[in-house]
Amino acid sequence: MDSSNFTANLEFSFEKQDHFTTFAKKLSQMGEIIIKTPAQIGGIRKSSQLAAQTLDYITPIVKAGVTTEYLDHKIEEFIRDHGAIPATKGYNGYPASSCISLNEIVCHGIPSSKVILKEGDILNIDVTTILDGYYGDTSRMYAVGEVSPEAVKLIETTRHCLDLGIKQVRPGNPLGNIGFVISRYARSQGFSVVYQFCGHGVGIDFHEEPQVDHTARRNSGPLMKAGMIFTIEPMINQGRPSAVVDRKDGWTARTSDLKLSAQFEHTILVTPTGYEVLSDSRGEYPVT
Ligand code: MF3
Ligand code: CO
Ligand code: CO
Repeated sequence: MDSSNFTANLEFSFEKQDHFTTFAKKLSQMGEIIIKTPAQIGGIRKSSQLAAQTLDYITPIVKAGVTTEYLDHKIEEFIRDHGAIPATKGYNGYPASSCISLNEIVCHGIPSSKVILKEGDILNIDVTTILDGYYGDTSRMYAVGEVSPEAVKLIETTRHCLDLGIKQVRPGNPLGNIGFVISRYARSQGFSVVYQFCGHGVGIDFHEEPQVDHTARRNSGPLMKAGMIFTIEPMINQGRPSAVVDRKDGWTARTSDLKLSAQFEHTILVTPTGYEVLSDSRGEYPVT
């Protein structure tokens, strides 16, 4: 599908949204953090659930011998079969329906017919859906067969970083405390935190205010408020924290030392008493 088609679909989706949503989209373009209405929260929850179900669906298909392009095609088919659009396709010229980032790739790996999964690989699959105009964004790590103990430790640490960040979500808490607990824990395990990519407001647009810095200082940033929705998506490295974007494709970000990197991402709603993980398809998180 070409990008003109993508725009047509997007406009069609936005026709289904209410006037508040059109207004909120303008607010986000002005750099303000949108407080979502109950109707918008419902729509973003549905889209986030679909993104999570896409990650569930692809799990048994991730095996040695398949190409990342094949995985991307299956992901696109699943998303479209459920009445949604893959948000990444055509986004700033990005060519695929998912990002698939193997081993030393930090994020934005482009699915390819030349990349064949092999035993021992670790990979992140990142899916963003647009359902009825609303965005849901989530990613997970997958392992191909048996992987090294170091890779297992990196994946488990990264997953715990996300969980620690989520537990900081409640009204009145400074946003920076999310990144503070993430980086403190990652470093305590001997790993480093990528500072060049961050989480983001999401729902009405793909990337809204605020930016969620996974290396933030304690008590920094705006206070969280009920009705905010943003992603937390820490990228944790085995070696140095820096990432370098591929000069040829303009997307693939690799660790500068080519050591392993891992990432998990959820779309989170700030509730009056804490948080709801909107992209939780497996009942892993309580609603607080
Ligand atoms: N889903 C990614 C995120 O978590 C963004 C991917 S943008 C793309 O924000 F263009 F690289 F696909
Ligand atoms: Co994201
Ligand atoms: Co994402």
